[in-house]
Amino acid sequence: MNSPSIQLDVRLGRLALANPIMVASGTFGYAREMAGFVDFSRLGAILPKTITRAPRAGNAPPRTVETTGGMLNSIGLDNDGVEAFIEGQLPYLAGLKTAIIVSIAGKDYEEFLDLAARLDGQPGVAALELNISCPNVSGGVDFGTDPSMCEKVVHGVRQACALPVLAKLTPNVTDIAAIARAAENGGADAVSLINTLLGMAVDWRRRRPRLGNTLGGLSGPAIKPVALRAVYQVARAVTMPVVGIGGIATVDDCMEFLVAGATAVQIGTANFYRPTVSIQILDALPAAIAQLGARSVAEVVGTLQCGQSK
Ligand SMILES: Cc1cc2nc3c(=O)[nH]c(=O)nc-3n(C[C@H](O)[C@H](O)[C@H](O)COP(=O)(O)O)c2cc1C
Repeated sequence: MNSPSIQLDVRLGRLALANPIMVASGTFGYAREMAGFVDFSRLGAILPKTITRAPRAGNAPPRTVETTGGMLNSIGLDNDGVEAFIEGQLPYLAGLKTAIIVSIAGKDYEEFLDLAARLDGQPGVAALELNISCPNVSGGVDFGTDPSMCEKVVHGVRQACALPVLAKLTPNVTDIAAIARAAENGGADAVSLINTLLGMAVDWRRRRPRLGNTLGGLSGPAIKPVALRAVYQVARAVTMPVVGIGGIATVDDCMEFLVAGATAVQIGTANFYRPTVSIQILDALPAAIAQLGARSVAEVVGTLQCGQSK
């Protein structure tokens, strides 16, 4: 099935990846859990669960609920903090022969900069993804909804470390292209989009929300059209590469994102119900690219033809 003549490598600014298939933060644990299913060395990159400076307990249970065509989660950035990550997770991740893009979240500007400085130069860290888009925590999300705050935090992180920087954007805004432009002005190497859409589920018989946190983030196939729209809009608004995320579960989904303007993709929710999904998509990618008469990922990216078809 592999067509060796198809060039799969991509560049996200200063970050070079062997192929465009990554696994999304929060949906792949810290990779260990997936070792029985996935040959990590084949992935373009792994994004471990977002870390914060101090340990966080996360939100009250229940934290996940299935919805039509997707799921809601309100994990609330449950993690053991950056020091535990560096000591307990990074040595394992660093040995995996794939790029590790560490996802960080700060509740304020200083926390983002501290995290960036702490991770700078740590063996095995290929890049940072700034999670300025988690809908499940108070504070932090402001960086993804206010262009000037977004530009400031990206710029600050660029100054605080030498690592390539991706900014992960929220769809819960009126104009996502304006936020992406701000990230580009701040010096981001790329933007990743989308994080989850704010939603909720109700158990009407008990008159109770189904999530302990009442509100949560919607992900999975249900959000793919929104994510495609966001990628399309952002890819036309910036010159830096765009990473597409949202409901990707098949090679067709992946190709749709590439054609709409994504240079690479991240697979999230699908990992939960089909842990081998990323490798299946990667295996099928060369043939799909060849079907368009192209010989590389780059030849496909952003080739969507809008307007009247001939
Ligand atoms: C259970 C769960 C936990 C998540 N945790 C994180 C996280 O820690 N950091 C982050 O940036 N995104 C997190 N996300 C968002 C995903 O990375 C992704 O942006 C989103 O789910 C959309 O992609 P998908 O439809 O393929 O899942 C989480 C998503 C889910 C479902």
